[in-house]
Amino acid sequence: MTQPIEQLRERFAAFGQDHVFRFWDALAPEDRQALAQQAASIDLEALRRAYERTRQLVAPGQRRLEPAPVEPLPSRGGNRQRRTEAWEQGNSLLSEGRVAAFVVAGGQGTRLGFDGPKGLFPIGPTSDRSLFELQAQKLRGARRRWNVPIPWYVMTSAATDAPTRSFFATHDHFGLPAEDVFFVRQSTVPSLDFEGRLLLESPGRIVESPNGHGGAFSALADSGALADMRRRGVDTISYYQVDNPLAPLLDPLFLGLHALTGAEMSAKVVRKLDPMEKVGVVAQVDGRIGVVEYTEIDDEHRHLRDADGELVYWAGSIALHGIATAFAERVAADAESLLPYHASAKKIPAIDATGRMLSPSTPNGYKLERFLFDALPAAAASAVLEVEREEEYAPVKNAEGPDSPATARRALDDLARRWLAAAGLEVPRDVWVELDHAQIDGEQDLRALGLHNLSHEAIRLVPREG
Ligand code: UTP
Repeated sequence: MTQPIEQLRERFAAFGQDHVFRFWDALAPEDRQALAQQAASIDLEALRRAYERTRQLVAPGQRRLEPAPVEPLPSRGGNRQRRTEAWEQGNSLLSEGRVAAFVVAGGQGTRLGFDGPKGLFPIGPTSDRSLFELQAQKLRGARRRWNVPIPWYVMTSAATDAPTRSFFATHDHFGLPAEDVFFVRQSTVPSLDFEGRLLLESPGRIVESPNGHGGAFSALADSGALADMRRRGVDTISYYQVDNPLAPLLDPLFLGLHALTGAEMSAKVVRKLDPMEKVGVVAQVDGRIGVVEYTEIDDEHRHLRDADGELVYWAGSIALHGIATAFAERVAADAESLLPYHASAKKIPAIDATGRMLSPSTPNGYKLERFLFDALPAAAASAVLEVEREEEYAPVKNAEGPDSPATARRALDDLARRWLAAAGLEVPRDVWVELDHAQIDGEQDLRALGLHNLSHEAIRLVPREG
């Protein structure tokens, strides 16, 4: 039996949230039912704790920061022998079928402003193939290379679930067996005004948004994805974000280093372009590896340079992680304490007390989000690997300017050119080049193909305009 409405309202009143029923009398019966159902699903106690905690987060200056130990690029002193060992170890893990790919694609993509989930965004420089299709190509290539089924877990949210599933279905899972694609829907969490009060998006609906990429741990556990991994003998999750078309989905070097280190959660980093670049920094925080958000690092540490003039906190996190499934289970069970909600002030469309829709031009409340990287300090060990930005990171965040579709397409084109050049094939400057990543996903595939010119079905060239 559902809770009687009077009880529900009393509970909301006790938390100072009874205004959400302000329009109750005017609601149609089905809208009342929907509101009562939504309200009953909200854990007000947890929400209050989350709100209070967001106001008490430790000030950055109070934490002891030190640079994290990083396995650097060979050109910066990286240990070649260790890399070779890691590479071999990673290849074994992959060919034993112990690794799953996991993409988080539940974000609302507000900055990009695309009408649909970001994974559907057409990113191919010549083909307009979507981000999801590009990733599926890479997975098809990986399945062939390691000769195993590689499960793909795709995290969606209320905002992206239905269109994502139907996109996959319409495209026949991009040539992947449907039984190896597993959708994981993350939860939502209510947004709050600056006083911690719930907001209404309509007279019968409370504003909620996806609970952040840190919602991934609970989503993996609650959906049965972790159990599915266990059944398949998967013990390592290769995590990436849907909006980074350069992300290598399954990097043997990184996965192998993660395993050699006995790591529970690992991270890839690139050199920050400049101290102000808006990426989190991987560092030791009070003696534990973690990510310090760019908004949470103080100026002294942000700008600190060593005797050679290099940034001390240069290790920018690019949201590529290796995660042990057993660790994911532990974090999911303890999410409440390990993954605090972070509040970010946002413009949240909501109705006022008279029922009028407000489209605020300045932030009017907080969206609450959990961050995946907040789990890092709970890991018994972590490997941190430096990689080349040009090879692994070109996110699609904004409609224009930096980190936009234009910069990501250029990065894809540049990477394809570099791979082809390493195989002795020069691509003229007046064309765009795009590779079918199911066939060519790196220099090793080109070497194996032994091409003498650019005419191969996996290499697509299209004249540049203008
Ligand atoms: P961002 O933090 O860049 O957010 O997400 P976003 O939703 O893509 O874009 P904005 O901030 O609204 O403009 C980084 C990655 O985390 C995923 C996103 O889908 C993206 O892959 N994400 C984010 C989730 O899966 N769930 C969330 O609740 C938030």
